[in-house]
Amino acid sequence: MNRPPIPYPHMLHGCDYNPEQWLNRPDILRQDIEQMKEARINCVSVGIFAWTALEPAEGDYHLDWLAEIIDNLYANGIYTVLATPSGAKPAWMAHKYPEIRRVSAERVRDLQGGRHNHCYTSPVYREKTRAINEQLAKRFAHHPGVILWHVSNEIQGECHCPLCQDAFRNWLKARYGTLDALNQAWWTAFWSHTYTAWEQIESPSPIGETNVHGLNLDWKRFCTAQTRSFFENEIAPLKAENPEIPVTMNLMGFYDGINYWEMAKSLDVVSWDSYPTWHSNQDGDETYNAFWADAFSDICRSMLGKPFLLMENTPSQTNWHGVCRPKTWGFHRLTAIDNLAHGADSIQYFQWRQSRGCSEKFHGAVMTHANRTDTRVFQEVRGVGGMLEKLDRLRGARTESKVALLYDIESHWAVNDAKGPRNEGIGDNDLMLRFYLQFWKAGIPVDILNPEQDYSGYTLVCAPMLYMLSGAAAERLLSYVKSGGTLVMTMHSGIVDEHDLCYLGDTPACGLAEAAGIRFLEIDPLYDGQYETVQIVKAPFPLAESYRCERLCGRAAAEGAEVLGVYETDNPCMPDNIPCLTRRAFGRGMIYYTGAFMEDRFYSDFLLSLAEKLEIAPALDTTLPHGVVTASRRAKDGTEFFFVMNWTREQKAVNLPFALKDYESGKVYQSKLPLAPYGAKILIRTL
Ligand code: GLA
Ligand code: ZN
Repeated sequence: MNRPPIPYPHMLHGCDYNPEQWLNRPDILRQDIEQMKEARINCVSVGIFAWTALEPAEGDYHLDWLAEIIDNLYANGIYTVLATPSGAKPAWMAHKYPEIRRVSAERVRDLQGGRHNHCYTSPVYREKTRAINEQLAKRFAHHPGVILWHVSNEIQGECHCPLCQDAFRNWLKARYGTLDALNQAWWTAFWSHTYTAWEQIESPSPIGETNVHGLNLDWKRFCTAQTRSFFENEIAPLKAENPEIPVTMNLMGFYDGINYWEMAKSLDVVSWDSYPTWHSNQDGDETYNAFWADAFSDICRSMLGKPFLLMENTPSQTNWHGVCRPKTWGFHRLTAIDNLAHGADSIQYFQWRQSRGCSEKFHGAVMTHANRTDTRVFQEVRGVGGMLEKLDRLRGARTESKVALLYDIESHWAVNDAKGPRNEGIGDNDLMLRFYLQFWKAGIPVDILNPEQDYSGYTLVCAPMLYMLSGAAAERLLSYVKSGGTLVMTMHSGIVDEHDLCYLGDTPACGLAEAAGIRFLEIDPLYDGQYETVQIVKAPFPLAESYRCERLCGRAAAEGAEVLGVYETDNPCMPDNIPCLTRRAFGRGMIYYTGAFMEDRFYSDFLLSLAEKLEIAPALDTTLPHGVVTASRRAKDGTEFFFVMNWTREQKAVNLPFALKDYESGKVYQSKLPLAPYGAKILIRTL
């Protein structure tokens, strides 16, 4: 697929800009431009919720105001990320065409209002979207100031209207061919739920069917497919007019309503909106807020294997967290550097100017109601802008990861829908993040990939809780190991096929049990507060004597695997030496199996020792004090960028393994790098 680059050679520094809210205030619109220049903003996302201003009545297009805005911005050196307005539908449209209003799972149709709530199937909404997009494309797709299409906004949700039900049945017919095949795949003889006519199939609903897991899973797949086809419908007129302007969609972190990896196939560049609950801890330690956000940044970077855009973050505070604390003094610079460290080629904000009314009037913005540029937030934003202006060399720089962490959203859907063995949180995401955290803390770059992506070139692949695993996915894992890769698997993997039907026979299925030299016996979930102990009986690399485990204890039999750790318990009924940690050479590679949900310390010891053994180096090979994190990116011209972030309120220092130059000040640090509270540095080495 031809994925055109953004036709702009610098890092982006921008924000959502809603001039349609200020059309009767030309004085404010004039100020905007001057103030944006002062804030060193070089791009703005325009038109996101501007449909009524663009088409106040059906077919009556008013694009002149937008043209004037875009022209003016461009004349002042500010580029436009042009949005399509489908994220919020006009009232006239919702009233004239009720079919565009979404129907909930309870089968209740929405009234007009809110946003992100249209039907993805409605031919009327598709036609209207296409028509307005055609207008926008004809008018602006060749404008030299337009550098990117921002398609809709935070695309999300599902619709259960009759049109969607029909489309779902057609999608199922194409997938299964016959009702018989569908009934088999969904195991519908259970509770006499067999379908005898296609019309009997309804999307999952709290007032209807929720127990057929195959139905639930296929409904989510269908919602993704329908959303993607809606998206394709949106971009067709944009691409027809000028295929060189890239398209993006802003993702919402670990939102699991649709499969983002499927959506990414239609994107030229991935972007996301990052809103961690900063400053939620009394001690000011932001490590655990930061790593979560970085994990999703790494997902975005890994989706297309190139830098992503940070489409939104707040310059200060949100208005929708339980408690909306502003980023403290200097903290914005730290978060900006951190995003660059994980592959962002932009720092963009929601929002440029606070609206005067409605539900986001107290959301943070570069310009607050005070309308002054001498505020702390404005000046910190300006500071980040100045920093980005000097970072042309970083734009497009790659992150070289030798570790791949596999994460499959479909498996996540299935394992959380499963009913048992642990309904109070099976913890698949937590387990994945526990793996991630150790590499992140050590500064070892990780790509987080969907198992469909190509991971054959990675030295180490970690596959936590791949509960749902198709034969083809298992085959890829096996051939990766056969040709020399190292795989870390866990409990509760390879249990069901792609229909969410349990495999018969030994698991992990499809040859993985044999290859790993183990066989699952049973899984014992623990209540919160309960734990067991795993004793290390043979350590191929440095490990402690024992570790605690919680939540899930997968018991296995070793059948050819070397046993490294066993369950140790004060339960007199439990036999001794049930394997929990094993390894087995397979082909030219090695499979490690970790059977229990272990304490952090285990993953840290185990994964970092394993990485060392495999010669996987961190960004900076040095002992880092708690809260200090490093990352690196490599530019095409032989410059290696190193990022050092201090997520604590304390003064810290890092011993550098080699001399590095502060990219901003030019100062060279030979060995000791001091870091202020919440300080961050961008350092370089020329290769
Ligand atoms: C989302 C939306 C924005 C805005 C922000 C507020 O990310 O895309 O329109 O509502 O949240 O944080
Ligand atoms: Zn619908």
